[in-house]
Amino acid sequence: MVMASATRTNRATRTPAPGRHPSSPASLWHSSVGKKAVMAVSGLVMLAYLVAHMLGNLKVFFGPDDINGYAHWLRTIGEPFLQHGWFLWLARLVLLAAVLAHGTAAYQLSRRDLRARPVKYVHRRPRATYATRTMRWGGVILGLFVVWHVLDLTTLTVNPAAEEGHPYQNIVASFSTWYSGAVYCLAMLALGLHVRHGFWSAAQTLGVNNPRRDRALKLGANALALLLTAGFLSVPVAVMTGLVR
Ligand code: HEM
Repeated sequence: MVMASATRTNRATRTPAPGRHPSSPASLWHSSVGKKAVMAVSGLVMLAYLVAHMLGNLKVFFGPDDINGYAHWLRTIGEPFLQHGWFLWLARLVLLAAVLAHGTAAYQLSRRDLRARPVKYVHRRPRATYATRTMRWGGVILGLFVVWHVLDLTTLTVNPAAEEGHPYQNIVASFSTWYSGAVYCLAMLALGLHVRHGFWSAAQTLGVNNPRRDRALKLGANALALLLTAGFLSVPVAVMTGLVR
């Protein structure tokens, strides 16, 4: 029993193999602390993208020419040094790497968390905390949302208008269907909760919190979550209420 429990603990904390330097990238990735750091950094990369994306979306309130012109401009960034659209592809690659790293680390940490439970819980698993459950389910909802969203507004596969190079028309067509409006509204609420807790967790993992900063960091996490949720939600709500059409 003692051996079984010791094996479990070793697997949970993953002490580096003999000969492997504890701060090598492989050892860091295999440790729980390393996986949390990967989650924090990849989460912050996605957060930066989301702030820029939310601000860009608000151009819908200035009319079709504004947001359609903005979408075109995004494809010209870096020209003539870069070819047309290359910057966007670079950003997509960075984003994809962040999503994969974030999702893999989250999955492995939660598997590790279940394995590391003491033996007495084998038959009766204790419930994860409210925050942990919100983060896990929120992450799954957001992952599914991004797949739907890319099919809707990037590849235009499920978009009712599907006009290439005309995001304004595609956005209006998408949110004119009740199911798309509902999917976006639900996802934006999940996003707010995820960002609120995730930002605070990242601050703790990266060690930027201390008793004097905690209040400001929590306030910052709430403000950021509220701003992103309200900014993103304003677009489907504006279409659904006829303000944007
Ligand atoms: C109501 C809220 C949102 C609206 C109106 C919206 C709108 C758009 C539009 C129009 C595009 C296509 C841009 C283009 O091709 O030029 C796009 C792409 C994208 N959006 Fe959103 N978005 C919203 C929320 C979100 C959220 C919450 C996320 C992430 C959780 C997200 C992630 C993405 C991603 C990953 C792409 C693909 C980028 C690409 O490959 O070009 N969006 N969005």
